[in-house]
Amino acid sequence: MQFTFKDTALVEEARLHSLVSHLNPYIKHLQKVAALKNYIEAESSINLPFDEDLLKTILETKERKCSNKLKYIIDIGIGGSNLGTKAIYDALKGYADLIEPNAFPKIIFVDTNSPINIWKLQQFLEKINNPDEVLINTISKSGTTTETIANMELLAGCIKNYKDRTVITTDEDSKLWNVAEKEKITHLKIPAIVGGRYSVFSAVGLFPLACAGINIVSLLSGAMYARRESISLEEKTNFAAVSAAISYVNYKNGKFINDNFMFSPELESLGKWYRQLMAESLGKKHVGITPTVSIGSTDLHSMGQLYLGGPKDKFFTFVSATKELVNPKIPGKPPIPTNLKEIKEKSADEIMNAIYQGTTEAFAKKRIPFTEIKLDTVTEREVGAFMQFKMLEIMYLAKLLGVNAFNQPNVESYKSITKEILKEN
Ligand code: PA5
Repeated sequence: MQFTFKDTALVEEARLHSLVSHLNPYIKHLQKVAALKNYIEAESSINLPFDEDLLKTILETKERKCSNKLKYIIDIGIGGSNLGTKAIYDALKGYADLIEPNAFPKIIFVDTNSPINIWKLQQFLEKINNPDEVLINTISKSGTTTETIANMELLAGCIKNYKDRTVITTDEDSKLWNVAEKEKITHLKIPAIVGGRYSVFSAVGLFPLACAGINIVSLLSGAMYARRESISLEEKTNFAAVSAAISYVNYKNGKFINDNFMFSPELESLGKWYRQLMAESLGKKHVGITPTVSIGSTDLHSMGQLYLGGPKDKFFTFVSATKELVNPKIPGKPPIPTNLKEIKEKSADEIMNAIYQGTTEAFAKKRIPFTEIKLDTVTEREVGAFMQFKMLEIMYLAKLLGVNAFNQPNVESYKSITKEILKEN
């Protein structure tokens, strides 16, 4: 993974250096959290990738619950309980699910309570005869989120042997945990201090991803690498701190929107995961940067005009993969001879690179600030590194903005009002 910003972030070097130096005491604190190897401090999610007991539990549970017959993992969760899993799954597999209908196992994500979708899924699950083909994983840190519990109750009964074919992931001693114990349903715990949007490398993400055949060891190795770099006092390699400082300066310069321009469509969900991470971690006390997600090159054809010609209230993060795993080429004599000379015998990669370069040059000319993150290829290791880098970047940015990166008081408020309304009716 490479991070570049020098001529494009439009932040003076001295300012950047002073902000990163200002973060040094916090970097030292993070180093202490890492040395503790436990789950006591607010930032302890950074220890998840190194947790060997956790990895062992996940692999053992996978061994017990998944056979080569497994086709569908029903991932029931919302917000921090499913966005990270979906980000990784879609980046590596899910985007192709439609055109690879026979590639199994697949994850089916169930988050909101859409009547039509739930009904269709009920019909689908009821037709499956062999219970080994399905596994439900219900994930809720609190164990009481309305959508998640409702979806589990709507779907579990549609599956044969549903108690054996369900795994519950929740906080130890939550209501859901106690139900799992009483009903003898396999359950995995989330460390109490680790909040939803920082929990992707806990059982929340690791279990369903492992069941779906994602290489979680490689995913975690990427995260370990990024943690080492991102809690270093060495400014040259601590891109998380540098990136946070760049976002901070741009915010202070009136760029209240951060668009994450994902130049690979399969990274859209990764952008949405980051959207939650930034929005929920920073949006409080009348402070906050509004994160948005664009897909390259698709959204150049819908948003490009606004980005280049509209108000200068945004800074951009371009995310791309430099080496694609496959690279189809336009034939010299195409089946439908369109005579578009500039694409003749060009590979898909060459075309995308030209669009990418054209876009970044146009942004630079207009003096619209941006940074670039280049993944090597879209692999487990690179995605793991990206996510750990971004979680640390947000902790640094929250520190600079003076907000608590780890709470979400306003999410809790709508949740409790919803419960009251449902009780009254
Ligand atoms: O980040 C968060 O705290 C939220 O997005 C939660 O993850 C989301 O509301 C789901 O909560 P729970 O995991 O308790 O069901």
